[in-house]
Amino acid sequence: MEGPLVIAHRGCHTFAPENTIASFKAALEKGADMVELDVRLTRDNIPVIFHDRKFRDASGRSHITARLTENQLRGVQLKYPGSNSVSSDYLIPTLDEVQDRILPDLALNIELKPDLRRGDKLVVEVLKRIPHRHQSKIIFSSFSKTILRKLWSRNPKLKLGYLFRSNPEQALKWAKRHHCFSVHPNIDVCSESFVGSAQASGLKVIVWTVNDKRTAWRLLNWEVFGIITDNLGLFRRRPRIEGRHKQNALRSRYY
Ligand code: G3P
Ligand code: MG
Repeated sequence: MEGPLVIAHRGCHTFAPENTIASFKAALEKGADMVELDVRLTRDNIPVIFHDRKFRDASGRSHITARLTENQLRGVQLKYPGSNSVSSDYLIPTLDEVQDRILPDLALNIELKPDLRRGDKLVVEVLKRIPHRHQSKIIFSSFSKTILRKLWSRNPKLKLGYLFRSNPEQALKWAKRHHCFSVHPNIDVCSESFVGSAQASGLKVIVWTVNDKRTAWRLLNWEVFGIITDNLGLFRRRPRIEGRHKQNALRSRYY
């Protein structure tokens, strides 16, 4: 048994602010196979990597992400203890930046988060920025069925992952009918029988967010495809495979 893909939730945010280039680099260093990140559109339609719909910056001012332009977001100092670095690696990155700087070394799970009913635009802007040769290295996931349908209609070859936190049976049926590659249950609704049914239907199972050893071990025995974690330390005994070799090893497992 090779073990599941270890997927760093928003990068490795014990070392840097989540969803930043610094956190993705740290995930790579710590031996993650893949990074999960969240993408949203700015007011001027630029896909940026950011989790929250609303947030407070380091000075306590509150903002709605989708109402800021790319430039305004780039100027935001993220709240993070001890992070006074002036490096742009600690700022909110654009998808373009991630794809130039991270994608060559690390596989991605891009979670699409639609705002202000701009789901269609989000899909268009995300796919526009990722060349076809890179699209197969990515799992595109979403809680939004509309987004997943839209992604499929633009490229039926994409690897789609359906995220959910309730009703696993219904979710499985939907994912099967809508050409998904994987189902992404929250750990609270992931049972052994669910994993078995998904696997029997030809769907991969990627579970989030798993931060303790006992749960990770249980999922390992159920042979899930991937585990999304905030705690890469749980998996530190995995052999480190670097750079191109790492990509080749990954490719042989799922491309
Ligand atoms: O993709 C798994 C997980 O990231 C979904 O929830 O809120 O952390 O984006 P959230
Ligand atoms: Mg996410």
